[in-house]
Amino acid sequence: MGGGVVVRQAVAAVLAAVLMAATAAEGFISTKTWRDIRRLNRDGAPFVGLVVPNAYEMDPVLNSPSFSPSHTVPYLDVQGRRFRFGTIGGQNVVMVMTGLSMLNAGLTTQLLLSLFKVKGIVHWGIAGNANEDLQIGDVTIPEYWAHLSLWNWQRHGDGPENELSLEAAGDYTRELGFLNFSDYTVGKGNPELSANTLNSIWYQPEEIFPISGKPEERQHAFWVPASTRYLAIAKKLEGMELPQCVNATTCLPRAPRVVRVSRGCSANVFVDNAGYRQFIRSKFGCTPVEMESAAVALVAHQHGVHFLTIRSLSDLAGGGSALGNEAAKFLSIAAQNAVDVMLKFVPLLAGEHAGLGIDDK
Ligand SMILES: *[C@@H]1O[C@H](CO)[C@@H](O)[C@H](O)[C@H]1NC(C)=O
Ligand SMILES: *[C@@H]1O[C@H](CO)[C@@H](O)[C@H](O)[C@H]1NC(C)=O
Repeated sequence: MGGGVVVRQAVAAVLAAVLMAATAAEGFISTKTWRDIRRLNRDGAPFVGLVVPNAYEMDPVLNSPSFSPSHTVPYLDVQGRRFRFGTIGGQNVVMVMTGLSMLNAGLTTQLLLSLFKVKGIVHWGIAGNANEDLQIGDVTIPEYWAHLSLWNWQRHGDGPENELSLEAAGDYTRELGFLNFSDYTVGKGNPELSANTLNSIWYQPEEIFPISGKPEERQHAFWVPASTRYLAIAKKLEGMELPQCVNATTCLPRAPRVVRVSRGCSANVFVDNAGYRQFIRSKFGCTPVEMESAAVALVAHQHGVHFLTIRSLSDLAGGGSALGNEAAKFLSIAAQNAVDVMLKFVPLLAGEHAGLGIDDK
């Protein structure tokens, strides 16, 4: 092999390395963006972090006179997410849209907390309703959230007395209970005919790594508490008046209410099924059923940051009332109600400081 070849190979290797570095660098946050982030934190922090799933739940905020966008930096785009700055009732806010589902909600909340000094997170949107006592348009504020789509799917033939695979290692548990497919067979009179090879799904807590804990040492969390301070503040909104009618002819049976409820449930599942809705209501006591809050809660919880969700009920998650079939008519009222409650809540955070949302009981 001649010297020239070696040199050419070395040059090619260096060029390849430079090209790879350039590609990788695109994933990093640029020096200029870091400068902007530092300035925003210096001039505006601590912010109230506003986390919203979809555009139809964010647009009413952008169109509301209660939200004043920042004149100096209305927004900053970082890694595919737009962070919007402004004030609501004198509170500096940073608002970010996550997109659908647990992964989007979790990673966007993590990015928010990594980049900006946030004293607490307020999350809002619409949700399915598993609670027969409430109605479309009601705005729920749950005390606890759980993620219901982390499962151990048990093999056919095993039952409740059989250890799950990897249970001994502490990876999975039978503590939270199960959904048995054979319980849902239509016309199941004969147990043999109703047996189902899909057997059972066991619900699992999340593995979490709180910033106050030891890295790589997992803890577990199923019911994640909202901030008790924020829940106490939210009580002031329970008498709030909300519109009953979409227009002169289309009205809900009664004016919607703001209510604090015990439990909300999230999963990477759009629930449009009455059987499953009743199951999660009786098993876990869920009222709002949706696809983001528990992810936001799990991230805020690990950071020890105040967190609260405001979710209006937009449908019956597959339940069969006459009103349920009319859900689409009331979608705009539902989204607007959640926004109106959020816009009333945020100004009440004046005087609230950053702090442990989870250890302040
Ligand atoms: C689920 O139902 C099957 C019968 O179809 C039964 O053999 C099994 O033990 C049940 N599993 C649980 C966890 O109850
Ligand atoms: C009122 O709103 C409903 C639902 O969007 C719609 O079907 C109906 O046509 C509207 N009525 C009037 C008078 O605008």
